[in-house]
Amino acid sequence: MKKILMTIVAIVAALPMVAQPKLTKDNIDEVLAAMTLEEKATLVVGSGWGSMIAGITGGSQILVSGAAGTTQAIPRLGIPNTVLADGPAGLRINPTREGTKQTFYCTGFPVGTAIASSWDVELVENMTKAMGNEVLEYGVDVLLAPGQNIHRNPLCGRNFEYFSEDPVLSGNISAAYVKGVQLNGVGVSVKHFAANNQETARDHNDAQISARALREIYLKNFEIAVRESDPWTVMSSYNKINGKYTQQSYDLLTKALREDWGFNGIVMTDWGAKDGTVDAVKAGNDLMEPGMPFETQRIIDAVKDGSLPMADLDRNVRRMLEYIVRTPRFNGYKYSDKPDLKAHAKAARAAATESMVLLKNEGDVLPLDGVKNIALFGATSIDFVAGGTGSGNVNKAYVVNMVEGLENAGFKLDESLKDFYKKYVDFAKIDPKDIPLGGSVGILLGEAKVDEAPVSRSFVESKVAANDAAIVIIGRNSGEGADRLVENDFDLSAAERSLLVNVCNAFHLAGKKVIVVLNIGGVIETASWKAMPDAILLAWQPGQEGGDAIADVLTGKVNPSGKLPMTFPVQFVDHRSSFNFPLGNEPTGRSDFSFIGDDTRTTVNHVDYTKYEEDIWVGYRWFDTFGKEVSYPFGFGLSYTSFDYSKPTVTVAKDGTVTANVLVTNTGKVAGKEAVGLYVSAPAGGLEKPAKELKAFAKTRLLAPGESQVLSMKLSAYDLASFNEAANRWETAAGTYTFGFGRNVSDIPVSFKAVIKAAQNFSVSE
Ligand code: BGC
Repeated sequence: MKKILMTIVAIVAALPMVAQPKLTKDNIDEVLAAMTLEEKATLVVGSGWGSMIAGITGGSQILVSGAAGTTQAIPRLGIPNTVLADGPAGLRINPTREGTKQTFYCTGFPVGTAIASSWDVELVENMTKAMGNEVLEYGVDVLLAPGQNIHRNPLCGRNFEYFSEDPVLSGNISAAYVKGVQLNGVGVSVKHFAANNQETARDHNDAQISARALREIYLKNFEIAVRESDPWTVMSSYNKINGKYTQQSYDLLTKALREDWGFNGIVMTDWGAKDGTVDAVKAGNDLMEPGMPFETQRIIDAVKDGSLPMADLDRNVRRMLEYIVRTPRFNGYKYSDKPDLKAHAKAARAAATESMVLLKNEGDVLPLDGVKNIALFGATSIDFVAGGTGSGNVNKAYVVNMVEGLENAGFKLDESLKDFYKKYVDFAKIDPKDIPLGGSVGILLGEAKVDEAPVSRSFVESKVAANDAAIVIIGRNSGEGADRLVENDFDLSAAERSLLVNVCNAFHLAGKKVIVVLNIGGVIETASWKAMPDAILLAWQPGQEGGDAIADVLTGKVNPSGKLPMTFPVQFVDHRSSFNFPLGNEPTGRSDFSFIGDDTRTTVNHVDYTKYEEDIWVGYRWFDTFGKEVSYPFGFGLSYTSFDYSKPTVTVAKDGTVTANVLVTNTGKVAGKEAVGLYVSAPAGGLEKPAKELKAFAKTRLLAPGESQVLSMKLSAYDLASFNEAANRWETAAGTYTFGFGRNVSDIPVSFKAVIKAAQNFSVSE
């Protein structure tokens, strides 16, 4: 009898091995128990480059052409593939497919830096809600966005994808972005976690950062996004932090991300296999992307030889299953391949106009009044930059350039100039395929920007008589795989400078105005030339509707309300980080990508570490605290109207919650919106701190002339804390804090002092 019983027990115990449950939301444990080691190792490694289904699922089939990757299916257990595709300025997939005339274009929205300049979380959420609908309707499960590395230095080639030099602005804009996309029932991947602040040697660079700067600057924005918006996934970065690849850092991926901040989604690697797959599994990096068979094998071998506990693998597999059951593909969503691109174009245009920053408007030359005939100068009028290059480049159906935008708005453009620039761009434009990689040319080039056309003084002078005003447009492009340069990039080129001088001289001599439009993705030098034109509109890289959006602002259809999400320094070297930013970068040494056998392998770059010597003194924290002159301070931005700030109040509740209110009144003649920053100065005596730090921000609705609105901002005691490295904890000092309500970091019209009675400490995972 005992023997029979034992046999039954043995059979029952063996049953899960042969049972084949199909995955549902409620049987994850059962499915996990039914998986073989090979299946588990397969699920945590993607199917390879592109949206190819390969490996264990057999054969090869493209799911969504142009997507960046897929997770593998295990049909036996009802586990489907899921599809991951790039952002952040819209969905990146191939616009055409073999065998069909149908097109699959996506909307090119304004870039990350632009939308951060709106300081408007509602606007961002509305925009990304439209973006996420394209993700859903094109059959993609996760958008590989937003990118939110801190603008440590103006030359990072991917800054345009990222939001700000400040973690509070960056984190809150990111949270809004995530919420908007995920409202569609698809996921995001917040990237690149973390400290991927340069493109030079990005795949192996060691970012050497103090614990304090890491927590307060480079992780804080991720912390805010995770806490506020519950992203489905996070993408670990290519680089190392303090000697450890982020993908393999338990401290980062498990202690900080999950234990401290409560993240409960999956972490995937950025695109490329590294040595140390097993360490990545242990650290809590759940998915290797794009995934190579040898990674699966490493995991299998390590479990077999005992160097990888099955429990670690099971933990990651469970998280993968929890992710998969959320996806539209798992839930059988019948996507249309026909998102409403017209409606989304409107959302892109609205976001672009709200993100533009008016840097100068002498004599209220804008909005344009009584101007009909315009002399539009600059190759960028035709060679317009909707967004940057690399994986962040969206395949959009069209781009409304500056010529089209102004003509659509009813202006009459100088035909001879139009013709000249059209011919020049046709002549000078190089097919991206013919451009050798290197210098500041990155990978996956979407567009190659032409240099400014050299034009003579007499040529410029000949355009004055027939036109009422001149607009000079200056453009910049950059992207993944390379950092920008100082010469001819941060600084104006000789041709741009002489164009500006000649246009301003000639038109001013005739009493006519000159407006500069900046179609750029990151900071450029402005101090040396900003006195020349009458107005400067920073349009950023405003997406496919850019030309129309610029015209909306120039005509006053939309009153600009964007503000700078970073400092514009006088010179590049004024940034403290400029001393150790890799200048004149060599081609990125993607040596561990060589296995894909394509041409992405270039000369190996010998830069392999970056000391973040500036510590917490990033952006305005440096300029403002040490009284360094800037060209435009963080938060700067003008309007066609004016705003008065009054009645500041700050109350501190028993639990330390701070409520800060200010009354904003439109004192000008047209309707407008105003973004207000809450800049906090901490009491002396605790840790050394920046003179002021942005701790919250808010924006008014459209206020009619004379109309007021109370803006209310809330903070917790934790939000006021700084990180004490020695004690390994966050500390909020007791004492009197000054809460400044600022137009920008250097212009704080009203402030209020409030006392935090008791000091508070907040521990982090040991
Ligand atoms: C980029 C990521 C991108 C991925 C997939 C990587 O090279 O760094 O931002 O999501 O490729 O295309």
